[in-house]
Amino acid sequence: MILRCPKCNNTYKPEKNRYICDCGSVLIVEYSSLQWRPKGEGVWRYKFALPFRGRPVTMDEGNTGMVHSESVENKLGLREVYFKLEGDNPTDSFKDRGTTVVISRAKKEGFKTVGVASTGNMGASVAAYAAHGNLKTKVFVPADTPEEKIAQIVVHGAELVRVEGTFQDCVNALWDAVHDERVYLAETGLNPYYIEGEKTLGFEIYEDVGIPDKIIVPMGTGGLITAIYKAFKELKQMKRTRKLPQMVGVQAAKCSPIIDAWKRGSEEPKTPKKAETIASAIMVKTPFNGRTAIRAINESNGTAVEVTDRQIVRAMKELGKDGIFAEPASATTLAALEKIEVEEKEKVVLVITGHGLKQPEAVFG
Ligand SMILES: Cc1ncc(COP(=O)(O)O)c(C=O)c1O
Ligand SMILES: [Zn+2]
Repeated sequence: MILRCPKCNNTYKPEKNRYICDCGSVLIVEYSSLQWRPKGEGVWRYKFALPFRGRPVTMDEGNTGMVHSESVENKLGLREVYFKLEGDNPTDSFKDRGTTVVISRAKKEGFKTVGVASTGNMGASVAAYAAHGNLKTKVFVPADTPEEKIAQIVVHGAELVRVEGTFQDCVNALWDAVHDERVYLAETGLNPYYIEGEKTLGFEIYEDVGIPDKIIVPMGTGGLITAIYKAFKELKQMKRTRKLPQMVGVQAAKCSPIIDAWKRGSEEPKTPKKAETIASAIMVKTPFNGRTAIRAINESNGTAVEVTDRQIVRAMKELGKDGIFAEPASATTLAALEKIEVEEKEKVVLVITGHGLKQPEAVFG
């Protein structure tokens, strides 16, 4: 296993305290050989493609629901639309898939404390898994993070720091506070092992419904879309498929640095001055994984869609009428499906990344 920089192509051995490239970019894990050998259930069913050996810190994450939606199919004249329900995870979002891997590594490497900056869900996930693994956690979140997510962080006994500012200010505060090699950085954009755990979402989609034509994914840092696409590329490498799904990335109209770069034909998102959206989980002005997210969209011949807050709230209510409670960031996927071109026979998967109870007030909007 090596770590490769998607920006300058430098490679590194996976050593303790090696998080990012010397050029400042995130790093991506690469395996010299992979063999498809699923065994057991959930995230650890795909241990053969995960960067951890030994006894993991796990709470039975993964193995989430895949639900067929007749009402959306009928409304949009499509034949196969599925929701992948990541709210089924222990802390109600897909983050647990990455966190089980990252906290397992932190514990094995002998760390006692982990640090994370978060728009809420990652903080909740890391706080829970660190508590389960008997580690301490410091969580930095924007001051206006939904109270439901704050409650999740607090109940697990994490040290909570509310930062007056954006997610990027939280990352800066995290860097300042943990200039200490004894604190493990459990941060999506900085820790390459997150993507590896999140990748299992792609493997599950494959086992649930085969190779979809399109997968619609909300983008904040761009980590999740990178991870799902990596899963399908590894399936190709393992000769499970020749076809790859088209990746469709979604952002909020007033916070869309990845899509803005994609539209310019660039792989370098620029930090917007202002950002604002009800989908607080994806309100990320500096997307660490923007480059790999844009590559996933381009390489897979996919597309990217911006959705307004009004469209997000409408989609959230529509999902509710189909029995699905999605948080605003996750409802962006349905809002996006309504805006892209899809052929009737195409199989489409919408990743419902987090449960609606994490940010319920949007329902009354
Ligand atoms: C509910 C939800 N959906 C989507 C995302 C986007 O994931 P990423 O930051 O990996 O692009 C996040 C990230 O926090 C999230 O919490
Ligand atoms: Zn580099």
